[in-house]
Parts: sequence; C-alpha cells; structure tokens
Amino acid sequence: MKTLIKNAKVVRAGTGRSRKEDILIEAGKIIDIATAINPEGIDKIIDAAGKIVLPMLIDMHVHLREPGREDKEEIKTGTRAALAGGIGSVLAMPNTEPAIDSRETVKYLKRKIKQEAFVDVFLSAAITKGRKGKELGDIERLAKEGIKAITDDGDSVDNSQLMLEALKQAKKNNITVICHSEDKTLSKRGVLNLGFSSTCLGLRGIPKSAEFMRVARDIKLAKKADAKIHIAHVSCKESIEIIAKAKKKGVQVTAETAPHYFSLSEKDLWSFDTNKKINPPLRNQEDILAIKQALADGVIDVIASDHAPHTENEKDIEFQRAEFGTIGLETELSVAFTELIKKKFLSWQSLLDKFITNPAEILEIKKKSIKVGADADLIIFNPDKEWVVSKENFYSKSKNSCFLGRKLQGKIEKVFHKGKQF
Ligand code: DOR
Ligand code: ZN
Repeated sequence: MKTLIKNAKVVRAGTGRSRKEDILIEAGKIIDIATAINPEGIDKIIDAAGKIVLPMLIDMHVHLREPGREDKEEIKTGTRAALAGGIGSVLAMPNTEPAIDSRETVKYLKRKIKQEAFVDVFLSAAITKGRKGKELGDIERLAKEGIKAITDDGDSVDNSQLMLEALKQAKKNNITVICHSEDKTLSKRGVLNLGFSSTCLGLRGIPKSAEFMRVARDIKLAKKADAKIHIAHVSCKESIEIIAKAKKKGVQVTAETAPHYFSLSEKDLWSFDTNKKINPPLRNQEDILAIKQALADGVIDVIASDHAPHTENEKDIEFQRAEFGTIGLETELSVAFTELIKKKFLSWQSLLDKFITNPAEILEIKKKSIKVGADADLIIFNPDKEWVVSKENFYSKSKNSCFLGRKLQGKIEKVFHKGKQF
C-alpha cells in the first residue's frame, strides 16, 4: 500500500532544507520525496496543504514509572502518549520502584520495551544505588548494557565527592550525567516558588537558590572531572546566567527546560491547582522571559517534557500533600508552537534543534529524519488549529496535566510511525 502526503511544508532538523514537497510512503519507509509526485496508482492521498510536516521528536526526560508504579504509567501507555505527542524516542527516568540501578532491571525493561513500546525507549540509570545518594551504582556495567545517561532525577546527589566520582566514571564510559540540581536543605518542605505568591497563600516557598547554587556546584564538579553534564529542568534566570558563563569558559554543559517553565508562572498557583505543583516550581515573568531568550540564544539546548504522571489519589488532595509533577508528552509540541514560534522566539528549524538535533547529540542516539530510505516517522501539524487541552483525549494513564483547560495554537493532526498512521 502506497500513501502520498501532498503539498506539505517539510521542516527538517539541522541543516536540512525546509520547502514544499510531496512524500511517498510504502511498507513503512519513505520511498520518494519530490516537489510533485504523480498520484496515479497510489492507494491513499493526504492533502497536507497549509500543514507542516516534521520528523518525530525526541523527549529526553520522561517518567514511564516502570517498574513498580504501573498505577501511574506503564511503558505501553506512556509510549502511546508519546506517539500521540509526535515523540518518536524517549529517555526513561530511573526514579522507579525499585530504581533502575542494576543489570537485571535494565535487562527486564529492555525485554518489556521490545514487546510493548510504541516508540523507541532509551534508558537512564541511577547514579547511586537505590537513588539513596550513599554509594555509586555500577556505572560501567550499566553502560555496557546500553544505558544512555545516569541521573538520580527527583533528587540531587548531595555528597560532592560521590558526584565527582560519578562524573569521572561517566566520562570513562562515555555517557552523560543528567543533573536534577536541587539543594534540599534549602527547598525542604517547600511547595511552590518562594516569593509574593508563597507569602500571600501562606505556603512554604522554594527559593531559587535551591536550584542555582546546586547548578553552580554541578558545573564546577563537571569542570574538575572534565565530564559532560546536562542540567535538567532549568526554571530560573539565575541558573541560566551560571550556565551561560560556564559555556563561555568551555565547560561541557548542556541545559534543558520544560514547556511549563516558559508558559506558566507562580501566579497560576493561586487556584491551588495541584497539577501545577511541579519541582522545580513555576517561577515568575522575568524567569519565563529569560528562559525564552536562553532558548533563542542557545544557552538552553533542549526542550523536554519531564512527563511526570501521578494518580488522582496523589493529586486530588490538599496542595501541601500532593505529589510534584505534570504530564507533558501530548502537549509539548503545541505549547512550544504557541509560546515560542508564534511569539517569534524560535523558528521551526531552531525548535527542531531543541527537540531533535541537540538531544540526539547529547545522548548519542539516532534521530528521525525525513529522507528517502528512512522509516516513515513523521508528524503532520496543523498550525491554524486551536484546541483546548482536556483530560478525555489523553493516552497517558495519568491525567495530571498543568495545561488542562488551556487553549493552544497548532495541533498534531496525524503521526506516521514506521509508516503506520496514528
Ligand atoms: O515535578 C517533578 N516530578 N520533578 C521531579 O524532579 C520528579 C518528578 C516525578 O518523578 O514525579
Ligand atoms: Zn528532576
């Protein structure tokens, strides 16, 4: 069966050209790309005039919750959500129960992924055994099993000596250390940003220093070890300034933010919406602007969702007791389009650097590309469609989206994965 996508504006990552083209798909592969392909003898024709065709994206910060918290998400449901969000490759986080810190767990997951995953799943493993911050995991062995990064995400490694050792081991084994940079002695028991809102609402605040002081430490250690680090979920201006300086000095640091940090602020918490209770917390307008500018000038390299599913029992309770985190796989492209492309901070091409080129380079994984002979892994995106985020449409097992009820511009219309249409 042959499928022809006609008249689409095709955007490619990296130096690839963007132009109006037709794409012919057969048996899961792209078999032809040309300005006008003859539609004779073709089974299915999709007129994509006015639409954008993109390669499937990479999301390097996803909590799939397996093993152990299948009540929140599973490989099957999480990767189905990824597919709906146009994400063709995810990096799964290791803060599971048990943590992903042994060869056995990695082997078990690889088998399950093979059987159940809708998209490519890469694994990260914990830096310390059980994510307890006390003893290093067997980084060399896990690297041999094919993990792409190490991280104690959800927690930072407080012991600097241990973190330094982890960085040295990571360098030796050619993998990246992903830093959840948080000094818990400063953020302890906080539930939202420390500032005007925390004071008015009478809730305990998390100072920005809990993040940026740990970002500074992590960067210093990476420099000492001459290792690669990636700072996850950057939320504030001060962290950006520290990262920018380190990059100028040649430290091998990359940085990531999530869509909620450039689209929501602490003010959005006046509704006590626990879906907006996230760690690090939502900040302020000046931080939002700093993040958008850092994306535009390259200080922030990656956009990732930090897809953090939680059950209703863990979210539909008092603000102080609710879990931290929001799902994000199914909204990230539209939020990025609405906030970054529509508002002229990024072009399509530079957005694909954040969603494809840079994460592929950091993790050293293959990126999906639109070329003859490649798997037909692509998104048809309608830039003119407006939609309101609602629970009913999510494939994710948990529905805790900080964007529920929000109107977004631009919607994924179809996703082709290995030629199959979703
Ligand atoms: O909000 C968050 N949720 N931040 C994290 O660092 C961890 C995550 C989770 O696993 O739920
Ligand atoms: Zn984290």
